[in-house]
Amino acid sequence: MNILLLGSGGREHALAWAISRSPRLNSLHIAPGNPGMADCGTLVSLDVNDHEAVAEYCRSNKIDLVVVGPEAPLVAGIADDLQAKGIKVFGPSKAAAQLEGSKHFTKQLCDEMNVPTAKYGRFSDLDSAIDYVRAEGAPIVVKADGLAAGKGVIVAQSLKEAEDALYAIFDGAFGAAGASVVIEECLVGEEASLFAISDGENIQLLPSAQDHKRAYDGDKGPNTGGMGAYSPAPVMTDEMIERARKEIIEPSIKGMAARGTPFKGVLFAGLMITREGPSLIEYNVRFGDPECQVLMSLLKSDILDLMEASVDGTLDQHSPEWHEGTALTVVMASKGYPGSYDKGTPINAIENAEADGVKVFHAGTGLKGDQLVATGGRVLNVTAMADDAKDARDKAYAAIEKVDWDNGFYRKDIAWRAIERKSS
Ligand code: AMP
Ligand code: GLY
Repeated sequence: MNILLLGSGGREHALAWAISRSPRLNSLHIAPGNPGMADCGTLVSLDVNDHEAVAEYCRSNKIDLVVVGPEAPLVAGIADDLQAKGIKVFGPSKAAAQLEGSKHFTKQLCDEMNVPTAKYGRFSDLDSAIDYVRAEGAPIVVKADGLAAGKGVIVAQSLKEAEDALYAIFDGAFGAAGASVVIEECLVGEEASLFAISDGENIQLLPSAQDHKRAYDGDKGPNTGGMGAYSPAPVMTDEMIERARKEIIEPSIKGMAARGTPFKGVLFAGLMITREGPSLIEYNVRFGDPECQVLMSLLKSDILDLMEASVDGTLDQHSPEWHEGTALTVVMASKGYPGSYDKGTPINAIENAEADGVKVFHAGTGLKGDQLVATGGRVLNVTAMADDAKDARDKAYAAIEKVDWDNGFYRKDIAWRAIERKSS
């Protein structure tokens, strides 16, 4: 098969790596990609916002399947536009991508299908929003309704914090994403990520994972895109996985199909495991980053078989196989992230870290001449596999020591919950 993969982060490097292992692969084209992905395929420069140009590239390169990494092109309708021209796309339609594109859309689906989720109100004016938070009290969660690059959520511990968040959002802090707000009850529990590949009707669950959203050790500091992940996550016992499937994922897939907007692609459920069981925090319509890096490490089956079955509606015939043990990834980020940071700082000796079965996925990297440099906030994902979380963690941290990058930092406690759970 000839594949075009869209995206340039650690998630896409992991996808490119998994795709490049497929015996069915003829050629892999990656737009725009990053220097780490050059080993997996050909990097091409294409404007993903120009759907006509992407379609033209597919035609002239006989692309059999387009794989979309990030959510923005999906929410913008790239799957619809390419499919209208007869090009197969792994990823949801614009209508189905609303599961990530609008928090209110997801809340309505939850109401309709009885999916457990935090109690909420939605407001498009400041005064009613303020009245609601005053009536409900703190802690309370304030969210910009639209896509805000993962930054539109404020978990307010006090009423003042909630009101300040509302003032900021209605003042335009998140642009159009904040034209309305969703205000939610604050759920208490342990978070987990659960992924399902769907063909619109059937689903295949992937192993559970856990991300680490805060920037610093001990889950302190500002929220980030994710500082490390591991899979499977012990908080997702077999019973919890079954409940999440039955109470959350299956009714959502059914509800989307019943509305005439079936969901095809990867559905990523951000869950809170509360005392009552799993509750949906949010849906994303793509793989998680960095969760994808550990899932692709564990995947034994051919990723292209699964992606094609999602497009063709034959997922009931494909149940993916997984390696035993735990995969764990540690994100190396530029000092200062998620705030401002220096760009263009040199990185060396990645090849030393990659010995002994460790894989380093690139995210925000670039080339200055021949020199590899950091170009983004999250820059490298040092990924290891072992029999359990502790050994995987030791292996990843031993490898990180070998990377030569003065301007990098990383959390030193990835998988602390899994390791603590085991030792208690
Ligand atoms: P989101 O961007 O929706 O993933 O939210 C970012 C983070 O905010 C989540 O990973 C949770 O840690 C937290 N969060 C979101 N909604 C809630 C909620 N209703 N209760 C508690 N925490 C939440
Ligand atoms: N790691 C969380 C996300 O991809 O949204």
